[in-house]
Amino acid sequence: MLEIKKDIYWVGAVDFKNRDFHGYSLSPSGTTYNAYLVRDAKNVLFDTVKAGFYGVMRDRLSEIMPPEKIDYIVINHVELDHAACLPEFIKLCKPECVFCSPMGEKAIKAHFQGWQDWPLKTVKTGDKVNIGRRNIHFIETPMLHWPDSMLSYIPEDKLLISNDAFGQNVASSERFADELSREYLEHAMTEYYHNIVLPYSRQVLDVLGKVEKLGLEIDMIAPDHGLIFRGQDQVGFVLGAYKRFAEQKTQKRAVIVYDTMWHSTESMAYAIGEGLGKENIPFRLMDLKQNHHSAVMTEVARCGLVAVGSPTLNNGVLPLVSGFLAYMKGLRPKNRLGAAFGSYGWSGECLKVISDELLATGMELPVEALRINYVPGKEDLAKCEEMGATLGMALSEKCAGVQD
Ligand code: FEO
Repeated sequence: MLEIKKDIYWVGAVDFKNRDFHGYSLSPSGTTYNAYLVRDAKNVLFDTVKAGFYGVMRDRLSEIMPPEKIDYIVINHVELDHAACLPEFIKLCKPECVFCSPMGEKAIKAHFQGWQDWPLKTVKTGDKVNIGRRNIHFIETPMLHWPDSMLSYIPEDKLLISNDAFGQNVASSERFADELSREYLEHAMTEYYHNIVLPYSRQVLDVLGKVEKLGLEIDMIAPDHGLIFRGQDQVGFVLGAYKRFAEQKTQKRAVIVYDTMWHSTESMAYAIGEGLGKENIPFRLMDLKQNHHSAVMTEVARCGLVAVGSPTLNNGVLPLVSGFLAYMKGLRPKNRLGAAFGSYGWSGECLKVISDELLATGMELPVEALRINYVPGKEDLAKCEEMGATLGMALSEKCAGVQD
């Protein structure tokens, strides 16, 4: 049993086996589905867990109190990693009310059978519910992560139950962020944000603004994935990190992402790296056969330059490159330079495909794309190196006066 504050308990589940988060992103160490119980004159459950973890959550809850004594369930977000077990918990607890946002109500009706018999009650930003010694304030956060998402704030405990916001894919026995190193945490937060939350960065800035405007006193942020932030230092850290992520301030660093058939495009990638190195630009080469697209996005998070290479295949690019470009475009990274390169045999459309996708992502392409016929020779590799150096200079110019 884990009491995170007086009469407030973590009743979630740790999924150590999950590596496929939501069907599109890598969760290298698994994840958690956090749910919380607040005991007061009215007992309230906040969110549930992914299908398959019902028994774990039910047992955790039953250790603290009989589940049928739950009065209210709050569903901050209907995505199935948090709401899948709602039908079972409604059946088990028979709550007086299930609170959700107006969009949450729509989503519940679209996801579940039997909702006609459920005591759904919609709440909006500014609404509050008294549960005895405490009040729950609701704050809608549309698109963070879905249109239905909302936060629950309990001023008496200075506690923000934040659902997807401020989460990380961490599966561990620790429940608090201060129990693991900040470096590890920063990486996990970067990975989660840049694969899940990045397209909604404007909404993140709106929410941070709302939190500031409402003058919420917060000394604990309890997300629905990963570790809980307790104390001013941790809360300040996570709010600051989200602001930084959402502002998309990049560093003077590059990532060279590629796939290759017979190592020609790979040789070009290495030579471009040499050129970047000569301009003192730190860089990483990421072969898409060895690196999952979400691991690449975690690297893109800090890089001001993304160079993408593929040989031409059937008038296009290799499938992993095509998939990566589509994935990155959907995540809408901003403030970055891009570059395209690749080898070809006879038609050479790879450059146009890559360049068009980088432009559609919103990147500026400061140098002409470079293609090499079949196998790069010494002079070709020199051209690649020159391309890397020119890109390095363009990145330095872009970053001039900007602090890392
Ligand atoms: Fe963790 Fe949008 O679900």
